[in-house]
Amino acid sequence: MARRNACMACHGLVHKQVGPGFAQIAQRYRNDAEAPVRLAAKIRNGSVGTWGRVIMPRQTQVSEADAQALARWVLSQPDPPS
Ligand code: HEC
Repeated sequence: MARRNACMACHGLVHKQVGPGFAQIAQRYRNDAEAPVRLAAKIRNGSVGTWGRVIMPRQTQVSEADAQALARWVLSQPDPPS
């Protein structure tokens, strides 16, 4: 689903590309109970300033249900190797 929605154009599974790696995102929010809801909203609305100055554009092609599934999938990634 991440590939179909072009997420992988900017995100790596592990390491930073244009945006943070999904493993880095998962590590950052590992103990954050609100993260699934908040990230699902940010996937659809876009984000800037959390990781740097590069903007993640809003992803309006992603339905609310798909955004929730993507947020849970991103957060389920293992920690990146240190
Ligand atoms: C055009 C490049 C681009 C695309 C396409 C993109 N992202 Fe991002 N994404 C970014 C950037 C840059 C950031 C960091 C934004 C920031 O610092 O707030 C980011 C941040 C995120 C975050 C973390 C937000 C936070 O608050 O920590 C998640 C989760 C995320 N992206 C998921 C996705 C998903 C899922 C998709 C596909 C539907 C996607 N992204 C598509 C560039 C992109």
